[in-house]
Amino acid sequence: MSKGQVAIVGFGYIGSVIGTVLADRGFQVIGVEKNPHILDCIRNKKSPFNEPSLEELIQRTVTAERLFVSADPASIRDCETVIVTVGTPLSDDYRADTTQIEEAIKAIRPFLQKNVLVMIKSTVPPFTTSELVAPLLREIEGVKIAFCPERLAEGNAIREFQSIPIVVGGVDERSGKAAALFWKQALDTDVIEVSSATTAEMVKLSDNLWIDLNIALAGELAKLADRLGIDVLEVIGAANTLVKGAKGQHVNILTPSVGVGGYCLTKDPWFVQQLGSEYGLELLLPRTGRIVNDGMPLYSASLIHSHLSERFSDPSRVKIAVMGISFKNNTSDCRFTPTKPVIDELLSLGYNLEICDPWTSEEDEKLVVADLPVNKNIEETIREADCIAFLAGHQEFYSLSIERIAELGNEHALIFDGRMFFKREDIEKMRRLGLTYKGVGR
Ligand SMILES: NC(=O)c1ccc[n+]([C@@H]2O[C@H](COP(=O)([O-])OP(=O)(O)OC[C@H]3O[C@@H](n4cnc5c(N)ncnc54)[C@H](O)[C@@H]3O)[C@@H](O)[C@H]2O)c1
Repeated sequence: MSKGQVAIVGFGYIGSVIGTVLADRGFQVIGVEKNPHILDCIRNKKSPFNEPSLEELIQRTVTAERLFVSADPASIRDCETVIVTVGTPLSDDYRADTTQIEEAIKAIRPFLQKNVLVMIKSTVPPFTTSELVAPLLREIEGVKIAFCPERLAEGNAIREFQSIPIVVGGVDERSGKAAALFWKQALDTDVIEVSSATTAEMVKLSDNLWIDLNIALAGELAKLADRLGIDVLEVIGAANTLVKGAKGQHVNILTPSVGVGGYCLTKDPWFVQQLGSEYGLELLLPRTGRIVNDGMPLYSASLIHSHLSERFSDPSRVKIAVMGISFKNNTSDCRFTPTKPVIDELLSLGYNLEICDPWTSEEDEKLVVADLPVNKNIEETIREADCIAFLAGHQEFYSLSIERIAELGNEHALIFDGRMFFKREDIEKMRRLGLTYKGVGR
């Protein structure tokens, strides 16, 4: 028996994860989506995104006739619950562009039934739910409106969506309670009801600001460690053992890398920066974190270049195997990937690049390398490379032994570890095999 009918408006990355999980948990789900490619994929039981387990869920729920997709907003007319997951990109003036939210709400408005629960899950600045969405829905009798931030991370989305506590905040008490009840019944996760939609909106921005700043801190520590000739991971590992705070929390410095990318961390801190400006505050941290993180790809390219230029005078005779172009490990998503500025810089320095990413589709690859082919064969890419640069840490790369990497690559090849994957014993082994290792800050 169906647990109820739920509409997901915007069946992109987040919408497809939420929609398929809810369908798998017994809801009748209608996904409303504008993009014909996504509609085709779902109808053909294919995943439009390379996210672990997503295709399996799509196959199961479409076959069971629990998941339907349509471009027609009228298809939501029988739904008691509507979840909005459209995009909220960064506008040219670094504010949140909420046009898709406004358009989506206007498109579905004529088909909403009375007492419907409308929840916004797209990331938006404070007051969007109460001052943009709520007035547009004023005429719907008994409508309940809440904001429930989505806090999952790509690459582990299906599991995280079902395990991270759900935060809800209503535009009024009745809405908050209805949203909390929906999630309690839908998932087995904790539900945290905060006092308003505005508070819930700020929760999401706070989470992402913390992550971005923390990674920026790790990045700056890594740069310093490079100068000091010490291992930043050793520093961070030991630093993180400090208990700090009345509740026994630990210092928790994250891991430095080739840079921060993706659709969220590259924009959400700017939403906070601009929010401060709107309220007469010159905030320093959001901007600083963004600047530091945006600088990491060029810093990484300079590490590679400085090592290679010690051995080679002509970059055009040097082959660099670029392993992974997506913005993070085990995902296909290339939106705002930090690998792009690394690749562009190495190309402009004249290096000869061969690129491998087993996860990406042609659509993804177009965002990074318009003119270069992307090889799916790992060993072929590494063969005779003078540098093997791990820019995204896909699991497939690490199934290769250090011995095999040494066999395939050229003598004394440089291993650039942009994702801080290799353990100290791996690094020792690399050195014994004549390879040179360089990580970000180690
Ligand atoms: N991607 C993530 O990891 C992540 C994590 C947490 C929160 N978020 C937030 O979730 C929101 C969605 O992110 P995403 O990565 O899924 O973006 P996305 O671009 O993959 O998905 C948005 C989808 O909405 C569709 N759409 C836009 N307007 C529409 C309309 N009027 N009717 C039907 N479909 C419409 C688009 O075609 C697109 O497919 C953003 O606000 C983002 O910040 C994303």
